[in-house]
Amino acid sequence: MKLFLDTGILDEVKQAAEWGILDGVTTNPTLVAKAGRGFKETVLAICDAVPNGAISAEVVATDYDTMLKEATEIASWHPNIVVKVPLIEPGVRLVSTLADRGVKTNVTLVFTLTQALLAAKAGATFISNFVGRVDDLSGDGMEAVRDTVNMVENYGYESQVLVASVRHPLHVVQALQCGAHVATMPLGVMKALFKHSLTDAGLKRFLEDWNNAGLTIF
Ligand code: E4P
Repeated sequence: MKLFLDTGILDEVKQAAEWGILDGVTTNPTLVAKAGRGFKETVLAICDAVPNGAISAEVVATDYDTMLKEATEIASWHPNIVVKVPLIEPGVRLVSTLADRGVKTNVTLVFTLTQALLAAKAGATFISNFVGRVDDLSGDGMEAVRDTVNMVENYGYESQVLVASVRHPLHVVQALQCGAHVATMPLGVMKALFKHSLTDAGLKRFLEDWNNAGLTIF
């Protein structure tokens, strides 16, 4: 499963990129606004920090013609950019057009299997299923992920299922169990994937024993 970082903050991207496990970055208008720099500047800096990654950058218009202009502009900035498009009627139309032109897309704000079907049929590269926002309303966000993975596999759609709105490591575990292709998460969640108290305690003990014995490597 690919791991994407969900952020507009360059320092966070650089930190995760150093671990060598980062496959891409997702941004959205809220995250870019929080980052406090210009949109193009932010996205290009992220592209530089993750040279082989898929970097999602979102259109903000809601009518087809303006969305197409924005998508064309955004896609021209860097070859690794994936144009992020909301699941609305002109958005699905836009994804079909971009797929015909060979432009990669990430369909965002997908909550149901029927929305995912439309994205897959339009030729989306990624289908972003939001789980945390559904869980926040006492739903089961992972249900649509499970169904979408099955749909993509059963019908041979080429879209990758991307688990978004990830709130904690259990969402990552569940994404793996569902067979999702990608999970995107904030830096805090990605850092939490490293953690186990037995790892910390075990390492402490190893180092104490080593040092007490006066051992060295060099
Ligand atoms: C995905 O691409 C979105 O940017 C993101 O996962 C939304 O997460 P949130 O529900 O925590 O805002």
